[in-house]
Amino acid sequence: MSVLAIDAGTTGVTALVVNGDGGVASRGYQEFPQHFPRPGWVEHEPEEIWLATLAACRSALTAAAASGESPVTAVGITNQRETVVLWDRRTLRAPRRAIVWQDRRSADICAEYEEAGHGARVTELTGLRLDPYFSATKLTWLARNEPDTWRGVTEGRLAVGTVDAYLVSRLTGGQVLATEVSNASRTLLYDTFSGGWSDELCDLFGVPAAALPEVARSSGVLGDTDPDEFLGLSVPVAGIAGDQQAALFGQACYDTGATKCTYGTGSFVLTNTGTTPVRSEHGLLTTIAWDLGDGPVYALEGSIFVTGAAVQWLRDGLGIIGAAPEIEGLAATVPDTGGVVFVPALTGLGAPYWDPSARGTILGLTRGTTRAHIARATLSAIAYEVRDVLSVMADETGGKPLAEVIPELSVDGGASANALLCQLQADQLGIPVRRPRVTETTGVGAAFLAGLATGAWSSTAELAATWQLDARFTPSGTPDEDGYRLWRTAVERSRDWPA
Ligand code: G3P
Repeated sequence: MSVLAIDAGTTGVTALVVNGDGGVASRGYQEFPQHFPRPGWVEHEPEEIWLATLAACRSALTAAAASGESPVTAVGITNQRETVVLWDRRTLRAPRRAIVWQDRRSADICAEYEEAGHGARVTELTGLRLDPYFSATKLTWLARNEPDTWRGVTEGRLAVGTVDAYLVSRLTGGQVLATEVSNASRTLLYDTFSGGWSDELCDLFGVPAAALPEVARSSGVLGDTDPDEFLGLSVPVAGIAGDQQAALFGQACYDTGATKCTYGTGSFVLTNTGTTPVRSEHGLLTTIAWDLGDGPVYALEGSIFVTGAAVQWLRDGLGIIGAAPEIEGLAATVPDTGGVVFVPALTGLGAPYWDPSARGTILGLTRGTTRAHIARATLSAIAYEVRDVLSVMADETGGKPLAEVIPELSVDGGASANALLCQLQADQLGIPVRRPRVTETTGVGAAFLAGLATGAWSSTAELAATWQLDARFTPSGTPDEDGYRLWRTAVERSRDWPA
């Protein structure tokens, strides 16, 4: 038996065929265009996401069949979160592009709500914060600025949802209109603590609750794919989670305190807090990790917006590397950063600072500074950003030193292949960093959720047994406190930039 996982990410869709051992039997990938209509705006064409989904799945399924893999018995979905999509309930066509999680157009609306004193209540109900990152104020913006389109929502012709809900509609040929709870918990419209769409928040943000999809658990059959729409395949859509929650699941972080970091465009650190939500006082988010049917499991999350994107900037903006993986070799040509500190606040700062006015800052340049120092400072910055988040996590979940609360960090995502980064990370944190053999844990997590619901696996214990170690990075000494102090100073200097 095998399960198809669709990982609809921010820049492309990956499809994996995952076998019974939790290994990847085959994969397909299709990038889709990014649209930047104005500075700070980011949009995706839903039809392009769907076409990329079809292309990626076709490649993965063809390769699996060619290698003799047994046919897939279920589909799991994982996706970029917070991005909002509108689509016609009947034709499934989208009247406009999706507004992506990175899009900052609703910053003024957030400021307006904050000034009106709604911030604390929004956090109390959602565990999140008033920030354009989340879905709700993107919809408020649409209602205010595109009233003709919005009328389709208020009149019930258009569905509104996150990317998981859009894909469920497309996969089932419009038979099922549903979203999943970990995705719902990122919208600012869902009551994270008592469950269900919040009428109070829907009223506040001007989103009709009736327009929102029904909320399903993370593992369970929602309906079958429509063979006429989806590659001739009729299999149950049986598992869904937002991509960061799916990675936590795929990393087998099933126990309280188990923690993972996914290095992508940004980096997202999640720690499992069990069935008790932990409210953050210092800039982390309380989020639903998953619900397997017996109630939500919660996580604390630190969302760091720019990590891999900083490496891309070295490639595309500065041209000091030709391809992202080259950073490791270049950074290794120098023993340290030569006093250079880079704060990659290229789109402001996310957790734990939440400062949209911060800007990228490079300090400590001398005539001796080379591109190798900047490359090494970039990797160090990623490690520092993750340390910022994990330090708060340790304080808020245990109030003890980091190593006692979070004994090790599981890493995944593209940049986890970078051994120098993993070593710097372990050195910064003072705890071991472990990397699994399969680092596409986002897709694996979605496959696990779907396979649990359809009998491919019977328990999380069985899933945990499929996790295999690739490499373990142990701290080479005690964390470099002087370097970290310099980093914190540099972060302060990057903030409140007036442009
Ligand atoms: O919250 C945003 C996150 O879900 C995006 O993840 O991997 O698509 O950049 P990714």
